Amino acid sequence: MKAESKEDILLAFKQSQLLGKPLFILGGGSNILLLEDLDALVLKISILGIDKISEDDQQVILKVGAGVVWHDLVLYSLDQNLSGLENLSLIPGTVGAAPMQNIGAYGVEIKSAFEHLEAIEISTGTTRIFQEKDCRFGYRDSIFKNELKGKYIITHVAFRLNKDHQPNISYGDIQSTLQKMGAIRPSPLNISKAVVQIRQQKLPDPKELGNAGSFFKNPTISLERYNQLKEKHSEIPGYPIAGDRVKIPAAWLIDTLGWKGKRMGPVGVHEKQPLVLVNYGGSNGSDILELGRKIQEQVCTEFNIRLEREVNVIGREQLIQL
Ligand code: EPU
Repeated sequence: MKAESKEDILLAFKQSQLLGKPLFILGGGSNILLLEDLDALVLKISILGIDKISEDDQQVILKVGAGVVWHDLVLYSLDQNLSGLENLSLIPGTVGAAPMQNIGAYGVEIKSAFEHLEAIEISTGTTRIFQEKDCRFGYRDSIFKNELKGKYIITHVAFRLNKDHQPNISYGDIQSTLQKMGAIRPSPLNISKAVVQIRQQKLPDPKELGNAGSFFKNPTISLERYNQLKEKHSEIPGYPIAGDRVKIPAAWLIDTLGWKGKRMGPVGVHEKQPLVLVNYGGSNGSDILELGRKIQEQVCTEFNIRLEREVNVIGREQLIQL
C-alpha cells in the first residue's frame, strides 16, 4: 500500500487492524536486509513535495515529503543555488529515511542542515515535531534507531540551506577529484559532481549489483587500545574523535584480512570497497548475514574489535503489530 499523505498513513493503520496483519514501513529500501518473506501489510511512504517555508538573507528552509528521493532533493537544492547538501550527493534512499541514521558522507552529516521533522506516533496517530536535539543524532544513529524504534513514521523533514556557500572539502578524495576537475574555488555543483564521481568509482550501483551500502559502521576504540594495536599493525589508520576515542575504518580491517573481492557462493565482498557486501544474484538475506558474521568473527579474533552492523536486518520481529 502506498501512502501519499498523512491521512493515507492513518488509513493504513486501520487497514492493518482490519486485516489482522502487522505493518512493515518501507522507505527507499536501500538500507535493509530482508531475511524472509513477510506476511505483512507493506506501507511504502510516498509523500512528495518540496516547499519553501521560510527565507531570510542567508538561509532558506525547505519542508520536504518523506517519499522524495534523497538525490532528487540534492539536485533541487543545487538548482536553487542552495548549499548544504552537496557532499551528500547520490546517497540512495528517501528523505524520510535520512534522519533515521543521520546519513553522512564526505565530511558532512544531515544533522548539519537539519531544521526539524514531523512524524506520526504509531500508537496514537498524532503528529509530533522533533527538533534537532530531540533526534539525538550521532554517527549513523538517531533516537529512531533506539528508544523510538518502530514507534514513529517520519512524514516530512525540514532542512535549513544556505544561500552563501561554505564548502566542506576536508575529505582528501574530494580535494584530489576537484583538483583533477580544475575547480579551484569549487561551487556546490562542483562538489556534488566530485562526490558523484567518487561514489560511482568506488560503490556498486544497487540497481545493477544488489547491495545496501556500508554493511558495518566504522568502529571507535579508545586511544589506548589504538596505540596498542599500532604496535602490531603499524599502518592501521585512525581518526581521533571526541573523548579520547579513535574511529577506525572498517574497510581497512576487512581489507587487511584479505576479504576484498572475495566470494562466498552467490555473495561476496565488493572489490573496490570492502565495507560493502554484494549479492551477485540468486542469494538470500541469510547468505549475506552469514558472510557478515564470518567477517565480524575474524575482525574480532585478529583486532579484538566488534564490528556493528549498519544495515537494518528485517525479519518477522521487526514488524509493527497494531
Ligand atoms: N580503506 C581500505 N581499503 C579499501 C577502502 C578503504 O583500507 O579498499 C580504508 C582506507 O584507510 C580509507 C578508509 O578505509 O582511507 C575510508 O574509506 P572510504 O573513504 O571509502 O570511507 P568509509 O569509511 O569506508 C564511510 C561511509 C560511507 C561514505 C564514505 C565517504 C560508513 C560506515 N561508511 O565509508 O557510507 O560514503 O565514508 O564519506 O561510515 C554508506 O553508508 O552506505 C556509505 C557508503
